[in-house]
Amino acid sequence: MAVRKILTAPDPILREISKPVAEVTDETRTLVADMFDSMYAERGIGLAAVQIGVPLRIIVMDLARNGEEPQKRVFINPEILSASDEMFTYEEGCLSVPEYFDEVDRPAQVTVRYLDEDGKQHEEEAVGLFAVCIQHEMDHLEGKLFIDYLSKLRRGRAMDKVKKVVRQRERNA
Ligand code: NI
Repeated sequence: MAVRKILTAPDPILREISKPVAEVTDETRTLVADMFDSMYAERGIGLAAVQIGVPLRIIVMDLARNGEEPQKRVFINPEILSASDEMFTYEEGCLSVPEYFDEVDRPAQVTVRYLDEDGKQHEEEAVGLFAVCIQHEMDHLEGKLFIDYLSKLRRGRAMDKVKKVVRQRERNA
């Protein structure tokens, strides 16, 4: 297990389209463990493999609140089978767009099909924060970031913030 560096915008790797996992193996599970370590190190609630530079269709998530037991979830090759017409607005953030938060509208409910880390298939309804998070992470698999939904002005502000945060981190490193 290892904490790996999380790529930040505008790293071009974040724009790559992730490839399906052909077979869930021990190598996949090692990558998943690294993804959790990297996500927890930055106090994130979701992470796509491409964010640590591996463009494979793998997402990890933990929506447990502070003080709750961890709720590790793994989504391999996820697909959205249906989405509600009803929308939900949430103030999103992203470890690849550090310290910037803004509102995004997405379908309030989605049905998702995916493989778990044993390669077993599941189908599940997602609502609330779960629905937001799975859609946000699945966008990463298509090379898309939440700031792409924002106006040009707000996207510019987000990128200014990222540049500032990255400079600060380099100074403190
Ligand atoms: Ni993200």
